[in-house]
Amino acid sequence: MGTSGGLTSIIPLAYLASAVLFILGIKRLSHPATAAGGNRLAAIGMLLAVIATLLESGLSYTWIIVGLAIGGLIGAVMARTVKMTAMPEMVAVFNGFGGAASGLVAVGEYLRFAGGAETLGIDAGVSIMAGTLIGAVTFSGSMIAFGKLQGFVTGNAIANPLVRFSAGFFLAVALVLAVYLAGFGSNLHLYWGLIAAALILGVLFVIPIGGADMPVVVALLNSYSGLAAAAAGFVLQNNALIISGALVGASGLILTGIMCRAMNRSLANVLFSAFGTGAAASGRVADGDRVATPIEAEDSAMVLGYASQVIFVPGYGLAVAQAQHRVRELADMLTERGVSVRYCVHPVAGRMPGHMNVLLAEANVPYEQLCEPEDVNPDMENIDVAVVVGANDVVNPLARDDPSSPIGGMPIIETDRAKTCIVIKRSLSVGYAGIDNPLFYLRNNRMFFGDAADALARIAEEVKQL
Ligand code: TAP
Repeated sequence: MGTSGGLTSIIPLAYLASAVLFILGIKRLSHPATAAGGNRLAAIGMLLAVIATLLESGLSYTWIIVGLAIGGLIGAVMARTVKMTAMPEMVAVFNGFGGAASGLVAVGEYLRFAGGAETLGIDAGVSIMAGTLIGAVTFSGSMIAFGKLQGFVTGNAIANPLVRFSAGFFLAVALVLAVYLAGFGSNLHLYWGLIAAALILGVLFVIPIGGADMPVVVALLNSYSGLAAAAAGFVLQNNALIISGALVGASGLILTGIMCRAMNRSLANVLFSAFGTGAAASGRVADGDRVATPIEAEDSAMVLGYASQVIFVPGYGLAVAQAQHRVRELADMLTERGVSVRYCVHPVAGRMPGHMNVLLAEANVPYEQLCEPEDVNPDMENIDVAVVVGANDVVNPLARDDPSSPIGGMPIIETDRAKTCIVIKRSLSVGYAGIDNPLFYLRNNRMFFGDAADALARIAEEVKQL
């Protein structure tokens, strides 16, 4: 792409400034208090990059305006209508389209070479084949992840030997074709073959993974979409795209690592162990001689209203019940009564990174009341009441006490060591990991059976009467 006159020197500077803004934006995203500002900085960086790109000469503005209008409309409608709980699906779709866009850049460029007199040099060849391969895998993989999250595609892990063999086969085919086309020859039929093999590979990559592990897969695909964008940046020789693609690739990979670590699982275990294949959905109720002691709203209000230190531990059930506002209302009432209240958020509570933080922020929970497991665990004996709101695995003592359990070694919030623990959930059913939770049967634990939003509202009603 050419540039006109004095713009030649301004455009690279604008790209550099936008890259700096992206990096500063990402840095600020790491804390809730600065996250909104960080998002704005990154958005300004993106605006700058878009303006700089539009100043490049030789562009067809008609197509760009049509694309902007259609894309902008779809984006605006989705931003307004998609529910917070459907964010993983939305991110999966975005990654897929990001991969497709980068892949299409590579396809366009390959077709330009294939139809013209110019020969594909090794550097352009490598970039185009990498963009095509990663873009197509990201697109089809993300669509399957979306389907699994949405329920169109079975959430069960389809991990039979045929699927594994086919994945290996198509990976080999795609790599051989990409290497051949990048370095040795131009052949349109083989190129379409590469695209088909990469699309099938994306499907076979995600199909063997259980639906409940999709958030980790989505984070990984996010990283791939960044790599595809970086490859597209090399194809177009656009520095801003190379830098932003690399940033997305790296941050997606870091996020995937954080999620795996917080679940005490390796990435290989997530990708290949067919975990969470429906046991979590079976709703098994604990049996045996153990007794879980129930509690009602009135007694819960008494325990909470006269406590001095209370922690709320939100989990996936809080998201299902959309109980974030109810928990904040109850917490505010307790704070007014002089109770010290904190919300302890586990890194993998819920089903996506930052799931609980997003919900609590929506209810305007003050940042200073948020804390992490390592802040409360050492002092847990002094917590009067730990209220577990729709969480299960993240408070399961088996993770600490039984290394052979599926969640063995996963750091937990040790509410079993609080003076009193109240677990709000609808039954004794298992959580995502599909395992029983001994916390429910402890002497210092009480079960409040019911929907989280409804339970919290009833307790709040009783606290008012104290
Ligand atoms: P879970 O262990 O999945 O437990 C959630 C509990 O919420 C269920 O046991 C369910 O019990 C209860 N529940 C559902 N609907 C409810 C409602 N309307 N009202 C009240 N309770 C309700 O959740 P968690 O403790 O947040 O742990 C998260 C799990 O997901 C971990 O195992 C983690 O490894 C996994 N995971 C997390 C992520 C990320 S990034 N967050 C990604 C992949 C996997 P009832 O049916 O009895 O109500």
